[in-house]
Amino acid sequence: MTAAPLSPSRAIHAGARLSVGLLAGIPVLLLILATLGALSQTTVEGLPVVPWQTLWSLPLDRWVRDIAASLVLGFVVVGGLLVPRVDQRLVRMASLAALAWLIALLAQVPLTVSELLGRPLSDSLEPQIVLSLLTQTQLGQLLVAQIVLVSFVALLGWVILGRVTAAIVLALAATAAGLTGLMGHSGLHSGHTSSSISLAIHLLAVGVWVGGLIAVCSHVARHPKDAAVAIRRFSTLALVCVIVLAESGLLNASLRVDGVASLITTAYGTLILAKATLLAALIVFGWRQRRHVVPTGDSTSLVRFASYEVLLMGIALGLSVALSRTAPPAGAIAGDRITAGALATLALALPLVIAWAWPARQGWLSRLTAGYPEPFAVALAVVTYVVAAVVPSGLLGIGVAAVLASVALVGVGWAFCVAALGPRGLPALVLAAVLWPTALWLASRSDPVETGAQVALAGAAGLACLAVLYFVRRGARVVTPIDPVREEVPVA
Ligand code: HEM
Repeated sequence: MTAAPLSPSRAIHAGARLSVGLLAGIPVLLLILATLGALSQTTVEGLPVVPWQTLWSLPLDRWVRDIAASLVLGFVVVGGLLVPRVDQRLVRMASLAALAWLIALLAQVPLTVSELLGRPLSDSLEPQIVLSLLTQTQLGQLLVAQIVLVSFVALLGWVILGRVTAAIVLALAATAAGLTGLMGHSGLHSGHTSSSISLAIHLLAVGVWVGGLIAVCSHVARHPKDAAVAIRRFSTLALVCVIVLAESGLLNASLRVDGVASLITTAYGTLILAKATLLAALIVFGWRQRRHVVPTGDSTSLVRFASYEVLLMGIALGLSVALSRTAPPAGAIAGDRITAGALATLALALPLVIAWAWPARQGWLSRLTAGYPEPFAVALAVVTYVVAAVVPSGLLGIGVAAVLASVALVGVGWAFCVAALGPRGLPALVLAAVLWPTALWLASRSDPVETGAQVALAGAAGLACLAVLYFVRRGARVVTPIDPVREEVPVA
């Protein structure tokens, strides 16, 4: 196996450059919360009015907390336990990340007081109130436990000398990260043990996977000789994390969302759908990385693949914090409308991942769509409009209607994506970029339930998928319908 070294300057900055991709989560988080109205003050009589500064700061603080926790877990696992020799630089970075985590936890105290009591931030540090929060509420006690644990992690990070100290620091950090699972929607209701435990496991898997990927890139860029071993070991670890993450996430989601209908007709369900789609895309990236990077131990390819993965992980983390700030659904009833976000995810995002994942398996569909791809763009817009109109009618019952609508959207979306990836696909892509947002807009006008901003955000997400499809098309090599032996030709 050969390890291709990066140039010294690129090596030093590999981890830092990758981490920048995580910032993609901030605009995603803020845009979603803004369109859901979660950043504006409400004036419901009898409820405390939460200041806008708190509404903006709390999700950002949670985002910093989740990212910092992920970096700590990943850097300790990789730097202290996974690589052939302990990487002191990575464990020092874990310690710095723990400092950021600690600051986020400390900031959470006045922010929580401000949110619970509707007080301005400047009045939320009153010692009496802070003490009551920290000693008399479950949330406060969990916060104190986390603050203590993370302080130890930040300090001990500087004294990691070998595997044993690394394992101790990891145990402390994992306990602190797991406690977050008891604080979200899952933890603050009694009797939701499985929900809390599954969320804790979910967060650990997220941390080791996201932080570990950045850590392993940073390590192999500085130690190319270790690349083959480190990449192989991390690849196995990442596989385990993804399986655990998907299972725990789906279990947690199944406890909050009662079926496909709630998944596609509520904001909470739509965010889960979008996260699952991003996870599917990440699995495809990971699978390709296993095939192309693991056998060669090539650190340059690793960092290139990882930069796309970290970007998607950043978006997934932004969606996750938005999810944790969104009320879980009460249950779907006949008359509920499919959300614009679910239409974008089912008609474009998920089909895009499917078409990209199995290009060779859709030869028959490529042959069908290659000659006349434009009708598939029209069908995509028509089905989107019809589905948006039919689901709320309650025809066949909301559950069956939701399943049929989802299957129809993914089916037509997949056919369109294959058509757009074909040799004559460009006009179909352009046609869809005009027709699909129009269909979404017309559907939302007929019985407006969502705000214009929500529909516009979903439209923008759909257009972003079409832009990605364009770039996949440019880079892809597709199966020509003419060649029965699956000769691969580049798309012009
Ligand atoms: C099948 C895919 C997934 C499902 C079904 C899923 C589901 C969930 C659910 C139900 C929650 C609880 C939210 C609440 O408190 O109400 C959650 C939280 C979370 N998820 Fe996922 N998830 C998935 C994938 C991912 C991915 C790919 C990431 C990141 C790379 C991720 C990161 C997180 C984080 C950080 C939280 C905690 C957010 C917070 O409380 O600040 N999840 N997830």
